[in-house]
Amino acid sequence: MIVLGINPGHNSTAALFKDGKIVAMVSEEKFSRIKNYLGMPYKSIDYCLDYAKITKNDVDLVVIAGTNPRSQMLNITANGLESPVSSERGFMASLSSAVPKSVINVYSDFKWKNKSSEIKQMHADKLGFPIEKIEFLDHHTAHALSCAFNIKPNTLVLTLDGEGDGYCGTVSVFDGKNLNFISKTSQDHSLGLLYMYVTIYLGMKPNEHEFKVMGLEPYAKGERINECKKVFDELIWLKENSLEFDSKMNIHECLPYLYEKLRKYRFDYVAAAVQRKTEELVTEWVKRAIKTTGLNHVAVSGGVFMNVKVNMLVNELPEVEDLFICPSPGDESLPFGCIYYGVKKLNESQSVEPLARLYLGPEYSNDYVKNVLSNDKRLSNYKIEYHEDIESVIADLLANGKIVARMKGRCEWGARALGNRSIIADPRNLDIVKIINEQIKSRDFWMPFAPSMLADKSDKYLINPKHSFAPWMIIAFNTKPQAKIDIPAALHAYDLSARPQFVTKELNPEYYKIISLFESKTGISGVLNTSFNLHGEPIVCSPEDAIHTFLDSGLEYVAIENYLLSKQ
Ligand SMILES: [Fe+2]
Repeated sequence: MIVLGINPGHNSTAALFKDGKIVAMVSEEKFSRIKNYLGMPYKSIDYCLDYAKITKNDVDLVVIAGTNPRSQMLNITANGLESPVSSERGFMASLSSAVPKSVINVYSDFKWKNKSSEIKQMHADKLGFPIEKIEFLDHHTAHALSCAFNIKPNTLVLTLDGEGDGYCGTVSVFDGKNLNFISKTSQDHSLGLLYMYVTIYLGMKPNEHEFKVMGLEPYAKGERINECKKVFDELIWLKENSLEFDSKMNIHECLPYLYEKLRKYRFDYVAAAVQRKTEELVTEWVKRAIKTTGLNHVAVSGGVFMNVKVNMLVNELPEVEDLFICPSPGDESLPFGCIYYGVKKLNESQSVEPLARLYLGPEYSNDYVKNVLSNDKRLSNYKIEYHEDIESVIADLLANGKIVARMKGRCEWGARALGNRSIIADPRNLDIVKIINEQIKSRDFWMPFAPSMLADKSDKYLINPKHSFAPWMIIAFNTKPQAKIDIPAALHAYDLSARPQFVTKELNPEYYKIISLFESKTGISGVLNTSFNLHGEPIVCSPEDAIHTFLDSGLEYVAIENYLLSKQ
């Protein structure tokens, strides 16, 4: 059975299910080089089919996330633009002068409201599949089913995001095959959208820089935060005896209210207040859902659960027996749910392999790399060496205080670099934070880096009362004193929390080898890991992207497959 899952909205992504598992998955931004790309992911679809060595005729079903015809029209139109739109635009059209009027007009045109079948035909024609093989799946069902690969029957599933197909949050129970929804909140009362509007209010990019707002929170102190939080308390809440959110106004219209009520407060108080409001509301929501259903195995998905601090607090709730957080649970994960739905529709008894390794994107052979390196005249002044054991070379460089950008094997899917497209460094050295921020990534000074650590040594550094396994950088932990000694550069500078990647031999043997060798040389059981990209660009995918990043930054060492490119 072969099923293709597609999210054609922002963070557009395609994934392919074959032989009982997801074999390929990649977001279109990796090819378009436009962060959070919006529009049908044609190149990603081609990649998935090529990887599996199949043609469109071999695909049994194509499941596309989204049932709102107007949004689907926006997605279709976005592809036709000379300068495609990325995520901060789209449904944010009215706020962005960068969106061409033609796109706004398509989105606003109510003639598409009831034209689902016409739009399905358009997708069929453009994608090259017969219309009978195309299905649409509601946005929040797709979010909820994105957890289904990894959870057991009678798991409580919560989704929370900005908005999708009219809703911003759902509560359901997974029975082993299907979801039984017990609550849905209209997009008009969206906590995710409120967070996004606060991000805009603070002068940052919506749908992209919410994590920077989260990163500011620990720096703010004092009573002014509570005053500020009261503004949010009066704006959004959980309905009494309900699992639905409610709000004073349609959250889409809250920006003037925020400007009026918050302008006397400093930026860090606002950031801290919205983060604390989110933490408070989400944990209360989860507690109520557990109380209502009597179920304490919990799974979560949707963009709000990109918030690693919220996830930490949910995980720490005594009511939660265990928590599954969908990896990279923004809209890039919708194809997981689409595939699960499609597979079960075709054959209810088809087994599916749990998600574990997220290295599901393109890879490049050493021959390909050699060819690219030798044909790029801009590299003639730089040193290029082939190393059979490149992992040992990288570990040596790290132990000697060098920063190395590493590109090897299949590109990881999702917002986090998990070692195959990562910049890595010695986490003991706090100066490295400044060097990476200024010379390489032009990052914001308050944003922390993260550690990749040997999974079996994580207890050395993390306070992890539930012994959670954290391979995807989707949850934060408070840390033990040893972390401040061994890996200070990979912690949040102010609250010393960490957003770790647990690395095992099974998940990534070569990355595991680098960290193990680094440990044998230094006694430190982890490395600093930040995504391999320039600020504002998608994470690199190809050797060409890696070379562009090398040339346009202060990076001294880039390891591409077994080749080491250096400015020495
Ligand atoms: Fe979503």
